[in-house]
Amino acid sequence: MASAALSPDHNSPPAERDDRKTAHLVGEALKPFPGSRISKSFEFSREILRSPDMRQAGASADSIKVDNPDHTSFFFLDGDVHKRRRASVAPYFTPKAILTRYNPLMERTMTEMIAEFRRTGSANLDVIALELAGAVALEILGLTESDRTKTVQLLKKLMGSSNSFDKRPLYRFINDKLLGPFHKARRGFLAKKLYTDCIVPAAKARKSEPKNDVISYMVQHDYSVKAMIIETMTYSGAGVSTTREFMQVAAWQMFDHPDLKERFLAENENGQFNIIHELLRLDPVAGYLYRRTNQDLQLKSAGSLPKDQLLAVDIRASNQDPASVGENPYAIDPDRAEKTKQLPTWASFGDGPHRCPGAQVALHETRIFLNHLFRVPGLKLEKAPDIGWSMGTQGYEMRNMMVSCTRA
Ligand code: HEM
Repeated sequence: MASAALSPDHNSPPAERDDRKTAHLVGEALKPFPGSRISKSFEFSREILRSPDMRQAGASADSIKVDNPDHTSFFFLDGDVHKRRRASVAPYFTPKAILTRYNPLMERTMTEMIAEFRRTGSANLDVIALELAGAVALEILGLTESDRTKTVQLLKKLMGSSNSFDKRPLYRFINDKLLGPFHKARRGFLAKKLYTDCIVPAAKARKSEPKNDVISYMVQHDYSVKAMIIETMTYSGAGVSTTREFMQVAAWQMFDHPDLKERFLAENENGQFNIIHELLRLDPVAGYLYRRTNQDLQLKSAGSLPKDQLLAVDIRASNQDPASVGENPYAIDPDRAEKTKQLPTWASFGDGPHRCPGAQVALHETRIFLNHLFRVPGLKLEKAPDIGWSMGTQGYEMRNMMVSCTRA
């Protein structure tokens, strides 16, 4: 018989299962804006995001001057002007556009990438994820008249030109203070190159033959050079940086949970989406979403809020709020949403007027990425990814996730 000292305490609950991959990064890296009231409750978060009496307060929204709403990224707009802009972008994200344009492109891109992987026997998943997310974002944008890989590389360079991945204080001092002017000049050079090499040829082509894409819209509405670059960067940042990182987390979870991988491969499309939603619930890409109240408000879930109160929706905590998601909130359970009778997206894509328009695109992309990858013969994880926190996107970043396979 085991001694009392060695036996477990039978009155205490079993240690809670924790399948999250990125939670450890968040504590020190994810600091809410000063003065914000934080919501960690799913119900409160949903009420904030759905309320028509709030305005966008994320990124630098408070300091953006909206003198021409048509030429401002719609992320920063609110109310009727935002509604109109959202209506104008809706055609890029319809189920028909996904099924007829983006899905075939995703399938083709993955077929090409996997053929190359099978030829060489090894691959870096962050490179494959970038190529796929980039290809889809370029199609939505309409940046299709320049070399795809070069355009994606250019966007990647522009997005990474503040180099926020490394958080070491000495590195930050050298990067931000000493080399700041150099980085600014480099960003200017890259933005100009993006405009002349990629946007101009696409705009020229769309002038004579408009399509259902962002460039055609900008040409029809006489966007300035600056506005075109801003809009292109909005879609690249919102669509590429997010989906690229999430696809890798999802793959990593499948490597670590062979039962989950087997279930994924055996499921139909809906079953596969349930798994993907659940993995995104555990490791949502975005950190906080910010709103400011337009007037004194009385909320069902949180009582009264004064006018101009800054609110920070903690997506991660809301997604893992036991009051809504049920028991073992940190454990993977693809049937969770069904059991709790909630939508499986939880707060991962936001909610209300600013809810992510690209959510369905991202889910299809991830499904096709995993579906191709995990059917490769002899697939093996050689090296788990290096994980970092991007100050720019306020989200996690995965690099150098190495895989191998049986060579074809
Ligand atoms: C896993 C992938 C993705 C995640 C986790 C994600 C998450 C989000 C979230 C949380 C928001 C809400 C922002 C807010 O309320 O302040 C948002 C907005 C947005 N997303 Fe996504 N997103 C993803 C993929 C995409 C894709 C593929 C695109 C397009 C190519 C896209 C385009 C946008 C845009 C344009 C907005 C701004 C919408 C607005 O302000 O009305 N996203 N996204």
